[in-house]
Amino acid sequence: MERTLIIVKPDAVQRGLTGDIIKRFEQRGLRIIGMKLMHVSRELAEKHYDIHRERPFFAKLVNYIISSPVVVMALEGPNAIAAARATIGATRPHEAAAGTIRGDYALTVDYNLVHGSDSVDNGVLEVNNFFSAAELLPGWARSTDAWIAG
Ligand code: RTP
Ligand code: MG
Repeated sequence: MERTLIIVKPDAVQRGLTGDIIKRFEQRGLRIIGMKLMHVSRELAEKHYDIHRERPFFAKLVNYIISSPVVVMALEGPNAIAAARATIGATRPHEAAAGTIRGDYALTVDYNLVHGSDSVDNGVLEVNNFFSAAELLPGWARSTDAWIAG
């Protein structure tokens, strides 16, 4: 069972795409174990994107993610990391396959709508950066589980 942090980024919330984006992960079978609307602080944004600190787009990236509210979700499921990233699509939206979130709704890397954790270890770390233990309901009993993951 893997965990991934999904961020419905400011552009997606502003454009009214939050519901559609949540729906795609939900219908994929991933279990929502935490979800909230929040304004990301500069401190949290810099921590989240620390791996990109030396990249030329770092300042722009941090300013973008703190510019307006986001919806964050912690999702759980078998192969959750790869499944969620496949649902999100390629980083550069003009290369993202049609049918993915970015392939259906985005054009440029600066406004690519969604974040998904890129490894099992980062999934755990990022969920813990955005959610307290009290905000998570890991493994809650879902009546459809047997039909999704056996
Ligand atoms: P994410 O972390 O948001 O899920 O996206 P990703 O794994 O597909 O892409 P990553 O390489 O981790 O980059 C993180 C975010 O930085 C912005 N970016 N801008 N201007 C640029 O060349 C550039 N490259 C990346 C994007 O917002 C990307 O999602
Ligand atoms: Mg990434």
